[in-house]
Amino acid sequence: MNVEDLRLRLSEAGQDHLLQFWEELDEAQQAGLYTELQAMDFKELGLFFQKAIEGFHQSSHQEKVDARMEPVPREVLGSATRDQDQLQAWEREGLFQISQNKVAVLLLAGGQGTRLGVTYPKGMYDVGLPSHKTLFQIQAERILKLQQLAEKSYGNRCIIPWYIMTSGRTVEATAEFFTRHRYFGLKKENVVFFQQGMLPAMSFDGKIILEEKDKVSMAPDGNGGLYRALAAHGIVEDMERRGVWSVHVYCVDNILVKVADPRFIGFCIQKGADCGAKVVEKTNPTEPVGVVCRVDGVYQVVEYSEISLATAQKRSSDGRLLFNAGNIANHFFTVPFLRDVVNVYEPRLQHHVAQKKIPYVDSQGQLIQPDKPNGIKMEKFVFDIFQFANLKDVSDVPIQCEVSPLISYAGEGLESYVADREFHAPLIIDESGVHELVKNGL
Ligand code: UTP
Repeated sequence: MNVEDLRLRLSEAGQDHLLQFWEELDEAQQAGLYTELQAMDFKELGLFFQKAIEGFHQSSHQEKVDARMEPVPREVLGSATRDQDQLQAWEREGLFQISQNKVAVLLLAGGQGTRLGVTYPKGMYDVGLPSHKTLFQIQAERILKLQQLAEKSYGNRCIIPWYIMTSGRTVEATAEFFTRHRYFGLKKENVVFFQQGMLPAMSFDGKIILEEKDKVSMAPDGNGGLYRALAAHGIVEDMERRGVWSVHVYCVDNILVKVADPRFIGFCIQKGADCGAKVVEKTNPTEPVGVVCRVDGVYQVVEYSEISLATAQKRSSDGRLLFNAGNIANHFFTVPFLRDVVNVYEPRLQHHVAQKKIPYVDSQGQLIQPDKPNGIKMEKFVFDIFQFANLKDVSDVPIQCEVSPLISYAGEGLESYVADREFHAPLIIDESGVHELVKNGL
């Protein structure tokens, strides 16, 4: 350990306080802290901080974004309800792409899940289905089913590789969970884990925060950390090697997610899009969901808190909300677009500032739990790249019928289970048939 060298670097970066408890630490603690600090690029962190704070001040002084917003033009929109005549064609195209091994799914699973309040990764959450399947299991089974559907339609055995982004907070538990569950029936080589970066929390004046005498307060760098992580772990190269063209990116806490939804993939392919967003119509102006729109002519997601109620309430001539493209963090990217993002665009994105209450050790070495925000976390968002081309809580809907994804991907193929028979909810339809939960005392 060259501690003097480290001290010098810290001093140049105005971060000397990080070694203030050095003499009190035992050898193992010293070694841990040394390794953590040695790995940090303080110059880069200083720049991130400066740009993020600048952006933050700029946006808080700017007038609301309302006046500069326009809805997504109709010609780039496809609608599952208004374009019903197209659905079959999109689906066939999507299934064809899948059957040719050209489609991958990418799961964002590096978040800390503070709001859900569990100590393990969100994907391991039992969402309260009768079967007690976890989010990871449901998603894995949908991938399995979709591979079968594509195979049935086009006669090719195919693979949908599953890329899973974890973070320092979730990596070990996630990998262990998949191993314990034998990858839920998927082949291990087609499930690719990679880790996103972490950034230190900073005080409002740019000092890195210690959460223990020998430990920096670290948090994942937001789900937009995806792009840096893709570069760091050669993931785009892996996609290219496998011949993947389309990637469906989604969040772990979406129980309804249609992974690699063939209609969505087919739609984007037929439009020749390099980037797509699946949205759900926002019907209530105060629904707390961001909307996809254009601001100053470029695509963006505008958060509900960034616009006034009057704008949120605006309606178009058909009576629907004008800004109704509710972002559900389901995105489509082509691999060439991701390559450009990684090589060219990502470094241009600045971090957003999230003001947080960050536990810290004070100069006396006491652990303090602040009752108001005392610092910031820096994050990028996955949709930040739209300019270049949620658990929100799982709502507490009583489950009436749980259909195993292994039986049906999107409601297809259920006739043989239910035709001419009468059932009483709640039900499970799985590989072994239809089960009435009340009758069976489950
Ligand atoms: P959320 O915005 O819900 O964040 O993430 P979170 O960290 O999981 O939860 P809170 O805010 O602490 O309560 C939306 C999606 O983005 C992923 C999450 O795993 C989730 O799928 N995410 C978030 C990352 O992959 N990395 C991050 O740094 C943040």
